[in-house]
Amino acid sequence: MRVECTINGSPETVDDVWEGESLLYFLRERVGLPGSKNACEQGECGSCTVYLDGSPVCACLVAAGQVQGRSVRTVEGLAAGDRLDPVQQAFVEAGAVQCGFCTTGLIVQAHDLIERVPDPSDVEIREALSGNLCRCTGYEKILDAVRLAAERKVSAQ
Ligand code: FES
Ligand code: FES
Repeated sequence: MRVECTINGSPETVDDVWEGESLLYFLRERVGLPGSKNACEQGECGSCTVYLDGSPVCACLVAAGQVQGRSVRTVEGLAAGDRLDPVQQAFVEAGAVQCGFCTTGLIVQAHDLIERVPDPSDVEIREALSGNLCRCTGYEKILDAVRLAAERKVSAQ
């Protein structure tokens, strides 16, 4: 099957997509965007989070055929060329990246939170990230990164 969609602002046409293939596989193996990670393939960990038509989804739970005519934004699409998105930059500066497996999903989810709630409380941050599991850490540095990104967003307004 052919799938035509927009990925990170660019039109993409991909042929020979299998009907049962996930959006995660499609992005990683067919489009060449390995940022979204495959850690559970069951919708449990959030490592594969991408935007679909502006809302975060687990790419492992979306069939590739479902993105026909729709818009996908991955963690690669948050940066502006060589310039990291402020959430990406904050994760680096706060030391919130360890093995990195969960990181891209957390960044997409945190990016969505800060777009919706520019000055989130700790409870709102924890709730927004509750579907994203990190196996390496106690989450403190991740929370620091989201707080830092939110502070910068508010002070830039
Ligand atoms: S790989 Fe999709 S939720 Fe874990
Ligand atoms: S940094 Fe390793 S799983 Fe989160």
